[in-house]
Amino acid sequence: MNTLELHSIYKAYGSQRALENISLSVPTGSRTVIVGPSGSGKTTLLRMIAGFEFPDSGRLTLNGQTLVDSTHEVPAHQRLIGYVPQDGALFPHMTVAANIGFGLSTKGLEKQQRIAELMDSVALDSNMAERWPHELSGGQQQRVALARALAQQPRLMLLDEPFSALDTGLRAAMRKLVARLLADAGVTTILVTHDQSEALSFADQLAVMRQGRLVQSGHPLDLYRYPDDEQTALFLGEAVVMPARIEAGWAHCDLGRIPVNNHRNNSSAQIMLRPEQLQVCSPITGEAHSQGCRGVVTDRDFGGNTCTLTVELESLVNEDQPGRSLLVRSSGMHAPPAGSAVHVSTIGHAHVLSEP
Ligand SMILES: Nc1ncnc2c1ncn2[C@@H]1O[C@H](COP(=O)(O)OP(=O)(O)O)[C@@H](O)[C@H]1O
Ligand SMILES: [Mg+2]
Repeated sequence: MNTLELHSIYKAYGSQRALENISLSVPTGSRTVIVGPSGSGKTTLLRMIAGFEFPDSGRLTLNGQTLVDSTHEVPAHQRLIGYVPQDGALFPHMTVAANIGFGLSTKGLEKQQRIAELMDSVALDSNMAERWPHELSGGQQQRVALARALAQQPRLMLLDEPFSALDTGLRAAMRKLVARLLADAGVTTILVTHDQSEALSFADQLAVMRQGRLVQSGHPLDLYRYPDDEQTALFLGEAVVMPARIEAGWAHCDLGRIPVNNHRNNSSAQIMLRPEQLQVCSPITGEAHSQGCRGVVTDRDFGGNTCTLTVELESLVNEDQPGRSLLVRSSGMHAPPAGSAVHVSTIGHAHVLSEP
């Protein structure tokens, strides 16, 4: 059974449309990530699920129970939904222990024990219990906010950009800790982020938002490989996009002939490949390669174990025109220097994008 169901949710602030026709299923125990640029409606959607905003129209259900529709509104405190807002929002005049214990109904020793357990579960040292929020680092504040939300034993946990204030190393470590913690507790989670690598690594369901609309959702690997359009393709990583003529399951383009995964016959379309689907090797002189085309390395960006090469393809159409430039990944140690003549070939299928 699906834990959370959103049906055709609309929300406007005056003439500003914040959410437009959002429908989404969040399965029990899943980690759903909502990703999208700033202003795309992510926070509005989370606040609506939590019960701090109400839709102009649409319906929200949790485990079959209606949370909101045209006649019903279950208030936030009755929803059993944990919410960690974008800034953590700890009570500044309360210690760590008081923040975490805020909503606990137990008292005395039992309450202290529960607070200690919650602190332990988010890897906070017990000697921090009497500290004030301003005496904590960003990562520690986020963990207190998470422990406070977990104290309610929520059916669903909503996290709004919880790692955005942390630096890269700590961010990855926190992400792993939180993912494990929520999985162990069996809590269905919705995480909001505008960071594509965070989205891809955390999610088992990914939903992409743009301008108040949910443009695509599915498994992260499917969205990475089969994005509907160029904007989604580029939002989820680097992409090589070029025009092609599609014929009988093949794309004919500047890279030669590449098989496609979703073919439409005899049409022109934009195709997409990820840079890791391209490889370079030295051209075999006097011999034709079975696939791919020739090019010249115009730039080499050394990045340790991998290099990003810019390769200008030999123009197949007009020799006087400069060819198309592409990004290609190569192993750092064996990457050819700028000026090298190379042969570029492709791995796997090209993906045909839908018309804009
Ligand atoms: N309380 C509000 N009043 C007016 N406009 C709002 C309010 N909250 C959000 N918006 C607008 O709704 C849109 C979506 O905002 P938000 O949900 O915060 O986006 P995100 O979290 O993806 O950055 C934005 O254009 C924002 O300016
Ligand atoms: Mg936001």
